[in-house]
Amino acid sequence: MKVDHLVEPDRVHRTVYTDQAIFDAEMERIFERAWVYCGHASQVKAPGDYHAVTIGRQPMLMVRQPDGSIQVLYNRCPHRGVQVVGNQSGNAGSALVCSYHAWSFHLDGRVRAIPLAQGYENTRMTRDNPDCSMKRAARVDSYRGFVFASLAAEGPSLPEFLGEAKVAFDDMCDRSPEGEVEVVPWCHRVIQQSNWKFFMENQLDALHPSVTHQSTGIAASRVERRLKAEGGTPPLYYHYLSAFASSFAQWDSVQTLNFPRGHGILKAYMGLRPQDADTKAYEALLERAYGKEKMEEYLSRSIHHVLVYPYLSVQSPLQQLRCLRPIAPDRTLSEIWHFRLKGAPEAIYRRSLWYFNLVNSPATMINADDLENWTRAQWGLQSNGLDWVSFHRWYGDDQEEDGVVASRHGTSEAVMRNQFRAWTGYMAQ
Ligand SMILES: [Fe+2]
Repeated sequence: MKVDHLVEPDRVHRTVYTDQAIFDAEMERIFERAWVYCGHASQVKAPGDYHAVTIGRQPMLMVRQPDGSIQVLYNRCPHRGVQVVGNQSGNAGSALVCSYHAWSFHLDGRVRAIPLAQGYENTRMTRDNPDCSMKRAARVDSYRGFVFASLAAEGPSLPEFLGEAKVAFDDMCDRSPEGEVEVVPWCHRVIQQSNWKFFMENQLDALHPSVTHQSTGIAASRVERRLKAEGGTPPLYYHYLSAFASSFAQWDSVQTLNFPRGHGILKAYMGLRPQDADTKAYEALLERAYGKEKMEEYLSRSIHHVLVYPYLSVQSPLQQLRCLRPIAPDRTLSEIWHFRLKGAPEAIYRRSLWYFNLVNSPATMINADDLENWTRAQWGLQSNGLDWVSFHRWYGDDQEEDGVVASRHGTSEAVMRNQFRAWTGYMAQ
């Protein structure tokens, strides 16, 4: 399938969001080849712990092995095809056992026992045949505890794939005095009634917050002002919301950096370094762990948001991670996770929890307003209104050096242009 004619440097054809054949090609050429996030190592702590995850269209299992390593297997019994594990997560004990005919497998997928083996003698389904074992993902690797798998045997290594986006995980982990994070094992799962690309475009879209999130932002800033007028100090979480209603000029001053493979960064704008007692106690812990210079470096990286294209949005200063699992052209599962900084005080964790619930959860007015836009974009693009989607804003104005596109205006649609450059590269393979 050729898609070149659907993507121009400053606009794309609407069918890239709506067409089933294009979606199928995306699953095959992008999601089932690239390194896809499976989960955090702390989701599978003990041998036998598993977590079920979808890579492209493939049901997979991340499983902790007796030797401490992690394997990723296709969740499919080699006998009659039944998914060996039916739950989202759990512990399999010492073996994976199919519920249909009790074929059993070691935790790395190798067949352990075929029940009533006598009936298979002189057939091709004997234990020495590799097709009697559960198939493994071609490649598994991790970066600072974040586990990825690729279903393609060939291709860039995980560090090559992540490139500049590695900073998402460095920024998150370096904020812990122990250099590690631990998953909070509750995840909001939302089915977005829209194409996965809307979410990716929206995350670094600095033009939309003061429109889409105006009502929430203004209400929060009114409360902030009132609390201040009454002589109080508004809690930090009001600022999470009021910051959305910043002026266009402020948003325009927040730079985006756009990297090869579609990754990107929206620089910091929230000013998340208050000087209250909790923050000072936390900074003292970091200074003891790393020294003053490193502590300053770790806390002053200018990052609000890192995107790992095509499916991950990481807000490292607040330990948030959202992962997309596309289902259909107009259906996308998003998993919304957050993490605890190991060794950091409870008060610092609370900030992450507040952001998780107030901004990223499906119950908030921020996420809900975005979801409505994406659904309506999906419906609009399914119509015969017009064929093209515009990414012209500040086209020709961005600065490019060594493959990195830096916007000179925060509201530049450089983000979308860069994502589609990566998309075209994947789809041409
Ligand atoms: Fe938004």
